Order: sequence, then C-alpha cells, then structure tokens
Amino acid sequence: MAKFLVQKSEPLYGEVHVSGAKNSVLPLMAAAILPGEKCRIREVPRLLDVTVMEDILKSLGGEIDFQPDGTLDIDMSQMNTTKVEYELASKMRASFMVMGPLLAKTGHAKVYMPGGCTIGARPVDLHLKGFEALGAEVIVRENYVEAHAGPDGMIGASIYLDFPSVGATENIMMAAVLADGVTYIENAAEEPEIVDLANFLNKMGASIKGAGTDTIKIEGVKSLKGTAHTVIPDRIETGTFMLAAAITRGEMMIKNIVPDHVRAIAAKLRECGVVVELTDEGLYVNGGMNQLVATDIKTLPYPGFPTDIQSPFMAFLTTVEGASTVIETVFENRFMHVAELNRMGANIRTQGNRAMIQGGKQLEGARVLATDLRAGAAMVLAGLVATGTTEISKIYHVERGYEDFVEKFRSLGANILRIED
Ligand code: UD1
Repeated sequence: MAKFLVQKSEPLYGEVHVSGAKNSVLPLMAAAILPGEKCRIREVPRLLDVTVMEDILKSLGGEIDFQPDGTLDIDMSQMNTTKVEYELASKMRASFMVMGPLLAKTGHAKVYMPGGCTIGARPVDLHLKGFEALGAEVIVRENYVEAHAGPDGMIGASIYLDFPSVGATENIMMAAVLADGVTYIENAAEEPEIVDLANFLNKMGASIKGAGTDTIKIEGVKSLKGTAHTVIPDRIETGTFMLAAAITRGEMMIKNIVPDHVRAIAAKLRECGVVVELTDEGLYVNGGMNQLVATDIKTLPYPGFPTDIQSPFMAFLTTVEGASTVIETVFENRFMHVAELNRMGANIRTQGNRAMIQGGKQLEGARVLATDLRAGAAMVLAGLVATGTTEISKIYHVERGYEDFVEKFRSLGANILRIED
C-alpha cells in the first residue's frame, strides 16, 4: 500500500495551477449517456474516480478516448446494458449518478449501492424520491437499486428536497431532461457543480432554468445532441492550496480559479489575518504577513462554508494561537480526522457535531491515516508544519480526488514523498 512521507517544510512558495473539478466532471461524464451522440469534455483531471467512471461507462457499452491534454471523448451511442455491476459501483458514491441518465434515456436502471468515502450514512433516499415523483417504480434491495420508468417514460413533476443534496439535485435534473412536461426541483442544491451540469445539458439542447438558485425548472425535451464543454476549476483543490499557504505561512499565486466559488473560504481566512487578494494572474494568498488569530467555522450548503474544506481548515486552526470552534452540519460523521490530528499533538475535543480546538501547539510528526479524501489532504497540511516525519497511510483516498497531488506540492517546496510500502 502506498504512503505519503511528509517532513516539516519551509513556507510554501510559488505558483500552482488548479485542475478541473472532480465533483463536476463525474456527473458531466454520467450526463454523456443522455444524447446518444459523442460528447467532449475538456480539462478533465486524471484521478482514480474519473477512471472508475470511465470503467462504468465502458461497462455499459460506451467508447471512451482520454487524451493526454485532458480532453475526454465519450460516445454512448452503442450502449448495450443499463446495469452497473457491484465491483464498479462500490468503488465510489458518484457511480450512482448514472441512475438518472439511464432512466431518462432507456426507462431502466439497476445500480449496486454506492461506496466511496465513509463520512456518515450517506443515503440515496432523496434521489429515489425524486425518481418516484417523476413516475418511476423504484425497487430497493439490500445491495442494489432498480428503477423502471412508467409506460410513457418519465413525467414532469414538482419535487421538494428535504435537504439541498448535491447528488440528488444532479441525478433528478438528469432524470427529468427528457421527461414529458415540466419539473421543478425546490430546495435544490446551489453548488457551482450544479450550474456546470445545467450548462452542459443546455448545450445538448435541454431546457433548464434557475440552476444556482434554490428552484430549478426543467422543461422536458424530446431528444438531446452531442456537445463539447470545459469543466469548471476545482474549488476544493483551490481551497486546499489556500489552506496550504495559510498553514505554512507561505505565499502562493493560485491560477485557474473562480473567485466567487471560494468566497466563504477567503472570508474566513481573511478573518484569521491571512492575506487573500484577487489579481489579474489569479488568487494571491499570503499567510506570513500578519499575526494570525483564531476563528469559528460552520459548514453549510453552498454558498456557505464547504464541508470538504472543514478538515484542512481544522488542521490550520490547530496552528493558530487561541480557541476556535468548528461545527459540521452537512455530514453527521465527518470528524474522523480529529483523532489523527490529536495523535500529532493537537488539542481538539468534540461534542456531537462540534469540535473545540485549542490552537497554537507545535504539531509533531506521527503515523496517521487519511480517513477520507479531504482528511487525507488535511493530514498532509499538518505534516508540513509538524516536527519530524508524518507517515500517512490509506492515501488512495487522496489520489481519488487530487490530480498530481505530490508533484504540485513539491513544486511549491513541500517536503513530501510517495512511497510504496
Ligand atoms: C457531494 C460531493 C462531496 C461533498 C458533498 C457536500 C460529489 C461527487 N461529491 O456529495 O464532495 O462533500 O456534495 O457538499 O459531488 N443525503 C441524504 N439523502 C440523499 C442524499 C444525501 O440524506 O438522498 C444527505 C447526506 O447523507 C449528507 C447530505 O445529505 O448528510 C449532503 O449530501 P449530498 O449533498 O448529497 O452530497 P453528495 O452529493 O454525496
């Protein structure tokens, strides 16, 4: 099993280019099922999760061509099955994103239960309620979900989401694009990845309005055509580098960013005294200019503070003098990194969904786990400022979601190595 060895490093310094967004590209790839013609997606990051989605599409009969420059061509015109096998589906939660497009395109889908990061129960009930509202019959068995559209295909409906789930909003949007009539998704997620998906679908000929607000209107169309689209930059990768500059008190120019997408992270870092400035070149972040102070964060659906940056931000807060509180409201079990940070000498106590951090203690290198994708990044950040060596296991989580992780960090001066154990 591969590991990261991280050693205390100088403040990170230099320029870094952000890749295309993992959380955008996975639903975009699933959406390529819909037109029955070739689609092109540009700036696709090379990630394990992308490979899994490629394998899923190939298993359905798709033809995929991934060029070295990040251009991904997907041709699903010869699709010959609507079933995703357990071995593939269990590898990541986003495999469930093919359910909506399969149902819309063929009237049937059978997908084994999704795997992925173990952060909370992560049910798919909201996705399924949406499919049912659109007229599908949904059968849930212990380890798979099967759905059949009604005799006239999917039918437009009004759907209210109990929670603005990103995945459910995307899946329902894709299930509804070819439906008969109009669909409204209320209390929809407003994440930038939803807007990216709506833009891709609209280029195919769909009629989606309101993506990026809490009400999305989808007028069903008869058919869709192949198209080309460039994926948005990864706002979570951007946030990770912002935190890397902050925790090492370094100085970084982060390129290929959408400033609006990282507003909450920038605001919180500024509150701590980190300089975050938008320039013509990109986002300039400097953690070494001011004496830093503690702050509190609370994760929320977009445009609130992203849950995916909670663990990197917590790692940073352990290095800032004073007390701070982190409240996690999106996932019910996303504090597994707390034990790992405490193993490195941090002083963090948790109570339910609240973590209390007494910051300012010198972290010490230790053997720790990447308990999930973003927690793995948090452990690397902690390792950069800890004395001695930090050995991080289970790094396949990190490689699922960050492109060229080690190379990018090394180019900024980080002392990080990937070793095969
Ligand atoms: C997506 C992101 C993930 C991010 C999360 C929240 C992708 C591939 N992943 O995950 O990185 O952390 O958004 O920003 O885009 N829920 C239900 N029932 C459902 C669906 C969700 O109760 O049917 C709950 C979940 O358990 C969780 C919350 O809603 O507590 C948010 O989940 P959701 O927004 O669906 O996250 P994902 O789409 O899985």
